[in-house]
Amino acid sequence: TDKKDILALIKKAETTHELTKDEIVALLIDTEYEAEFFAAADRVRRMYVGDEVHLRGLIEFSNTCKQNCLYCGLRRDNKKVNRYRLGPETILDFATKAKSYGYRTVVLQSGEDEWFDVAAMVDIIKKIKELGLAITLSVGEKPREVYQAYRDAGADRYLLRIETTDKALYEKLDPGMSWDNRVKCLQDIKELGFELGTGSLVGIPGQTVESLADDVLFFKSMDADMIGVGPFIPNPDTPLAKEAGGTFELSTKVMAMTRLLLPDINIPATTAMESLNPQGRVLALQRGANVVMPNVTEGEYRQLYLLYPGKICINDTPAHCRSCITGKIQGIGRKVAETHGFRVKRA
Ligand code: 5AD
Ligand code: SF4
Ligand code: FES
Repeated sequence: TDKKDILALIKKAETTHELTKDEIVALLIDTEYEAEFFAAADRVRRMYVGDEVHLRGLIEFSNTCKQNCLYCGLRRDNKKVNRYRLGPETILDFATKAKSYGYRTVVLQSGEDEWFDVAAMVDIIKKIKELGLAITLSVGEKPREVYQAYRDAGADRYLLRIETTDKALYEKLDPGMSWDNRVKCLQDIKELGFELGTGSLVGIPGQTVESLADDVLFFKSMDADMIGVGPFIPNPDTPLAKEAGGTFELSTKVMAMTRLLLPDINIPATTAMESLNPQGRVLALQRGANVVMPNVTEGEYRQLYLLYPGKICINDTPAHCRSCITGKIQGIGRKVAETHGFRVKRA
């Protein structure tokens, strides 16, 4: 592809929000016009979702997981992890504090932990809803009836990354799990009226640039409302310890491509991006992102929720992160949103 072609593709993406797989690949592998590409994603972000940045307070309420994903520090075979579960009172306390920091959404995230049964989750969801907060759940694959119960209790959004659209690769890296079932979960979540969040890991071993293009086309075909993309960061306590890992640049490219093709959705500047680059979230906000998910988990638990090494903020307090992130957002001329930050469909 020559120079004119790349610039024409960027223009096509920016104006039509449609590209073929080959065109996506051409842009992802181009290194010459990255600045133009990111600038286009930034313009689309500004035109469709504006300058406001939505903050979502993240509560990591259990690091216990029955799954064994090869890339993840919380996998069940990792015996080095001190496992914890926060009780309902603690979760509610953190949610109340999140509200006091001005967050309008809390994200309840955990490993796949059966200890929290449906009744317990429903009770927590209802109590958090009474605070007037929006709730995002990120607790893994469940039967449709369970998603239904969470939705009926008032949960607004659900995050479940597809991780990769390469089914064979997915089933190799997530042993015992079914890619088809994961897609079924995403469909159930969508049909039940949650805002659907999914996303992928960039740089997992065996992944190709074609497969990254498929990921973005998959996000579009699912009409996802939120997409979280982050680099794979090898964890020394996992079977993928010796693998290379993803780069900051490529993960922001996949993110920017997502903004170009799904212009009106919510896209976080992910923690993993900042873990690879000290300016990672600010740069991501200038390459298509419009959401940040600051941690509101307190105390020792932060250190124990270690998906990958080098995770940021593990020794910081929620109050510190709140003022830190506000400073970064304002420092680039953007504004912290004061609304709940649901997707406003404009496409
Ligand atoms: N590096 C980066 N992201 C990871 N995740 C799990 N392990 C890693 C890792 N080593 C991501 C997965 C999961 C999310 C909660 O964390 O994409 O969906
Ligand atoms: Fe469990 Fe999620 Fe980690 Fe897989 S990625 S081991 S499901 S916490
Ligand atoms: Fe946690 Fe900056 S957001 S220290």
